[in-house]
Amino acid sequence: MEHVILVGMMGAGKTTVGRIISYTTGRSFIDIDQRIEKQTGMSIFEIITKQGEDYFRRIEKDVVLSLSPKLPSVVSTGGGAVMDKEIFSFLKSIGKVVYLKVSPVVLFKRTANTETRPLLKEGNRLHNLQDLLSKREPRYLESDVVIEADDSSPNEVADKIIKRLEL
Ligand code: S3P
Repeated sequence: MEHVILVGMMGAGKTTVGRIISYTTGRSFIDIDQRIEKQTGMSIFEIITKQGEDYFRRIEKDVVLSLSPKLPSVVSTGGGAVMDKEIFSFLKSIGKVVYLKVSPVVLFKRTANTETRPLLKEGNRLHNLQDLLSKREPRYLESDVVIEADDSSPNEVADKIIKRLEL
């Protein structure tokens, strides 16, 4: 048994879907952003706005690379984590990486609250999402499993993943 690792954009539903898979399968749930907040005593928003994105990415990398492969869990990653090649290879080595594929328009609707998302706070949010997605999607598509999540509820997405991975 391996970890189930959810990747994808902000607003793709990684945390919500991850929690559902966790309680349905009895696996524990690990949210990388929450771990970062616990470790630093700061919110993601504070870290990025006060210390900068590079600093955030360094902590994010430390937290991901310290994941233990021992207890098979459900892991939700922050949307930008897998852009680091070492992080992506590491995640693939400890689990099945699942991309929640959601289109920019749907992401736009789901990220209206930017209080927790500093990277979407400035400028045109839809353009920022389109731009980020076009840069990130080639990497996301290297995941082990791609789940189309535009027209499905979090429960349906969780179900698809559970069936697909035979959890
Ligand atoms: C980020 C996504 C966020 C968080 C940080 C940066 C990104 O997590 O890690 O604000 O670069 O896409 P979610 O994807 O859980 O919103």
